[in-house]
Amino acid sequence: MESQIKKIGVMTSGGDAPGMNAAIRSVARACAYHNIECVGIYRGYEGMIEGDFKSLNARSVNHIINKGGTFLKSARSQEFRTKEGRKQAHDQLLKEGIDALVLIGGDGTFTGGMIFNEEFNFPIIGIPGTIDNDIVGTNYTLGYDTALNTAVEAIDKIRDTASSHRRLFFVEVMGRDVGHIALNAGVGSGAEEILVPEEDLGLDRLLESLEKSRQTGKSSSIVVVAEGDKTGKNVFELRDYVEENLEGYDVRVSVLGHMQRGGSPSCFDRVLASRMGVKAVESLLAGKFNYMVGTVNNKLELYPIDKAVKGHSKIDAELLRVSDIMSI
Ligand code: F6P
Repeated sequence: MESQIKKIGVMTSGGDAPGMNAAIRSVARACAYHNIECVGIYRGYEGMIEGDFKSLNARSVNHIINKGGTFLKSARSQEFRTKEGRKQAHDQLLKEGIDALVLIGGDGTFTGGMIFNEEFNFPIIGIPGTIDNDIVGTNYTLGYDTALNTAVEAIDKIRDTASSHRRLFFVEVMGRDVGHIALNAGVGSGAEEILVPEEDLGLDRLLESLEKSRQTGKSSSIVVVAEGDKTGKNVFELRDYVEENLEGYDVRVSVLGHMQRGGSPSCFDRVLASRMGVKAVESLLAGKFNYMVGTVNNKLELYPIDKAVKGHSKIDAELLRVSDIMSI
């Protein structure tokens, strides 16, 4: 049976992530391959409300697979949170003749898409794009692998200066609600301690561990801290706390910040984005709506978008244990 979908809109929304451009490219090329039209929507839901659209053919997306950020730009739209704003967006899509949407982003993006679908019965499909890797229904989100490598590279450099001066560094990495970057970058860079939002290891345990490190002859220490860690102290307060409670420690702080969101995507993210874009377009053409494309055990699967939004990703408890063993 021939598909009713003739024109697909694609947009990126929320925090940008490396691999978003590669995903837009994949959506545009999969549309061209299946002889349907593709429209890029600029600035996420904000651009949708304003009708900021541009036709994308296979050549419009040349040489972007390797580029960080998103050439369609991203935004967090307040107006789309209102019924009036969503009605305006719907009118713009109808005017442009767009039949379905590929939404590339995180849970905020998917929540918006879900509400939009409930109100207007508009076909949507999601591609998970966020460095935080905090979406249920997929082992990996676009940008996570690149961000991990960026964080590890930065921490390796910090280690060089830390060991030259026999210093302790608190390194803050991104992850407002989840500790996937902290845990994996911490293990990957050989951090002595890792503080994540999912588990409060406690300040006493931190002091004990640092004291033990010193007694066992370590010349430098790195503590990787996720933005949202649960000790109740940010990295600067942690520094003050250690300086007050442990003698002889020369402590410094480094906040990696938004550099983790930028940069050329890793090969892993480029390949994942290419696969997910094709899967998203072909699923829409097959009449499968309101799903997110996820990767589970390296197989692409469709996961109901409402479950992706409502669920909570879990930290790898075994990796936390491995980290403890490694920092002996
Ligand atoms: O992209 C996800 C994330 O990096 C979070 O870890 C972080 O807290 C947040 O975005 C910061 O985003 P922004 O500075 O755009 O508000």
